[in-house]
Amino acid sequence: MPARLVVLVSGGGTNLQSLLDACRDPAYGADVVAVGADRQGTGGVARAAAAGIATFELSLSSYADRAGWDVALADAAAAHEPDLVVLAGFMKLTGPEFLRRFGGRTVNTHPALSPSFPGIRAPQEALDHGVKITGATLFVVDAGVDTGPILAQTAVPVENDDTAESLHERIKVAERAMLVDAVGRIARRGFSITGRKATIL
Ligand code: GRF
Repeated sequence: MPARLVVLVSGGGTNLQSLLDACRDPAYGADVVAVGADRQGTGGVARAAAAGIATFELSLSSYADRAGWDVALADAAAAHEPDLVVLAGFMKLTGPEFLRRFGGRTVNTHPALSPSFPGIRAPQEALDHGVKITGATLFVVDAGVDTGPILAQTAVPVENDDTAESLHERIKVAERAMLVDAVGRIARRGFSITGRKATIL
């Protein structure tokens, strides 16, 4: 049986699209069974709808508080019985209830080489710091901001004339390849965690 993936997005969904494309091959070992977003009208949800995949959109502002949104997000994901939840450009922290139910089987991709530059401005901060190499990291989600055990990383050079946008686009090319490779291996074989060390089996 292919692993059931629920993918959460906030933006254009090019990482999601790479997963959708990979999942067309039965040998990949995974199916995207639903795509959720933390806002209305994302490109990611449009891509999912175009592929005939179930979607849900849960804006934080529609809930009395963050805890209510957290429960609703967990319920929406649970309805699709995921084996693995993939945060692919999901710009919110999942909350305690989501982690209680999906901790240890939720992964996130971040456009920097962790532990450098956590948070939502990673490409700009890499430029500001003057690093010559940055990249992307796939990690197991914990309660922190981009702090969980690292499953995979890919390195990308910073060019002299980069803007945050040009650097982020270069990172995203490598990020998509890393995500597809690692999620496929996780779907087929799983991963283990010992302390900070995560290993795809
Ligand atoms: C990715 O670089 C992700 O790591 C970051 O936002 C970007 C999302 O891109 N947090 P997309 O929506 O998958 O095109």
